[in-house]
Amino acid sequence: MTKKKSTENNASPIILIVAVLFAAAIVAYQFIANKEVTSGKEIIRVGHNQSSDHPTHKGMEAFEEFIEGELGDKYDVQLFPSELLGSQTNMVQLTQTGAVDITVASNSILETFNPDFQIFNLPYLFEEPEIYHAVMEDSEIVSPIFNGTRESGFVTKAWLDAGTRNFYIKDGPIESLEDFDGQKIRVQESPTNVRMMELLGGSATPMGFGEVYTAMQSGIIDGAENNELALTENGHGDIVKYYSYTLHQMIPDEVIVSTAFLDNLPEEDKLVFDKGFEIMQDTQHDAWGVQVDEAKERAKNEMNVEFSYPDVSIFSEAVLPLHEEVIEKDESLKNKYNQIQDKIKELKEKDDNNG
Ligand code: GCU
Repeated sequence: MTKKKSTENNASPIILIVAVLFAAAIVAYQFIANKEVTSGKEIIRVGHNQSSDHPTHKGMEAFEEFIEGELGDKYDVQLFPSELLGSQTNMVQLTQTGAVDITVASNSILETFNPDFQIFNLPYLFEEPEIYHAVMEDSEIVSPIFNGTRESGFVTKAWLDAGTRNFYIKDGPIESLEDFDGQKIRVQESPTNVRMMELLGGSATPMGFGEVYTAMQSGIIDGAENNELALTENGHGDIVKYYSYTLHQMIPDEVIVSTAFLDNLPEEDKLVFDKGFEIMQDTQHDAWGVQVDEAKERAKNEMNVEFSYPDVSIFSEAVLPLHEEVIEKDESLKNKYNQIQDKIKELKEKDDNNG
């Protein structure tokens, strides 16, 4: 009798614990699966592939703070850095379906969604960051491109600075085209980038950003190309000690937003979100300017990376045929390209007159 009673007493807490855990699992599942469950607020999922110290994350935090400051009773902005929601390509696909609301995607990978994006992937399109910024800020140029993916389920609401892309390979600095011979170099997953690498003479190995560190470490690739923050924030400077300023591309990151999310926003909230995207962009650009210099110093002093400054005309001559190859295929691209060249000419003339 006594024994039986004690068994019953032992069994009930276990059942209780199991029941509580089961209930918690259901709530957790609903939290993930259903935007409304937690607080009655709409959850806005924002994904990117950079660390939480990166300028891009600072831009996202400013966006979150602003939106929740203005509309915190309706929206809960949740940030997922460091590929927590998958690679950039996966995140773009999730944004198309509306499972993710906002994703930061390199302009490189967007060319497969709308060929017009190829323009900003062309090597040596821009000679200086000032010109690159002025073109990206010209809405007559960028708006049709940014809004041209509506049928693919997203549009671009802001562009983020990703600086200048330069090569770094394990063997030594890049000084001439011969230095690319036999080198397996990671490029972004875009036909334009693969072709650029071919024209330079290296062997292009396209892969996602998150795979580059291990691929370099294990010898699957001999090097890569990126901005200085990849050396520090992504640890590439632990493995490769030579960074050569080939200055071959200035490729923006685009903040793409799901049309499933945007089209459901009430008109008055849309205005708040537009302001939020502006704040995101400005904060990221300001942080970029500061952090890229810090990254260079850290790479030099703490990681012993050597920076070199080759004559870039050797490389630009080798890849310039790519401009013609890309634009000759498509009238709309050609017009865009000419529009950008006119703008660049105008900016240079203005600069010459001022100085
Ligand atoms: C830069 C860029 C990222 C991109 C990465 C890459 O870091 O900001 O958006 O994913 O380059 O090389 O893939």
